[in-house]
Amino acid sequence: MKIKILRQKTPETNPYWECFEYNGTKEISVAGMLDQLNFGDDILNDQGLKTDRIGWDCSCLQGVCGACAMVINEVPALACETFLKNLKGETVTLRPLRKFPVIHDLIVDRSIIHENLKITDIYIGEYNPKADEDHDLQYTAAKCLKCGLCLEVCPNYTVGKSFFGAVYANDCYLVHERNTNKAKDIHVSYAKHFGNACSKALSCMEVCPVHISSLASMSKLNRV
Ligand code: FES
Repeated sequence: MKIKILRQKTPETNPYWECFEYNGTKEISVAGMLDQLNFGDDILNDQGLKTDRIGWDCSCLQGVCGACAMVINEVPALACETFLKNLKGETVTLRPLRKFPVIHDLIVDRSIIHENLKITDIYIGEYNPKADEDHDLQYTAAKCLKCGLCLEVCPNYTVGKSFFGAVYANDCYLVHERNTNKAKDIHVSYAKHFGNACSKALSCMEVCPVHISSLASMSKLNRV
């Protein structure tokens, strides 16, 4: 199996493609396969030439931290949740998420997600919930990994613009439900950074690894 990876040594250097040969089992995740390619003292590419260890990020390896988000065969996904046996063809193409600055190979800097929450003051603070709380929807919304896959596929999200994407709308919804004192501020911020510019493509819902319904959050926030 050929593994084609878009690599980049540092944020300042140009990206380039490098291929590797993987001959192990397909009953393994992309994360596990990358681990195997990186195993040993000498890392060889498909030409048999020594190369650098492949840079990629992980923590939980069970789909709950979001660190391993990348683009796998042109589909944004978690590497630890994507199995080789489920991918079509004999070539697997991996590249970093496009909407974030690359740090090294498949590792990107997603700090913008938290920076957007900080500058708009979206945090729960005092716990002052609504009387008619929808616990199921809140529970699902609270599982957000901040992995950035929703931003990767969003046709409205462009780096550096005022539209912050589904990940932001999800946090607005959560804070709105849990601290009613902030409701007015949240509505203004939600409209400015999400509601006014979302074209409802809803591709975010298709790639979300924890199946958060942006539509449900939107309908709650638009209703009040
Ligand atoms: S390593 Fe945590 S989600 Fe993949």
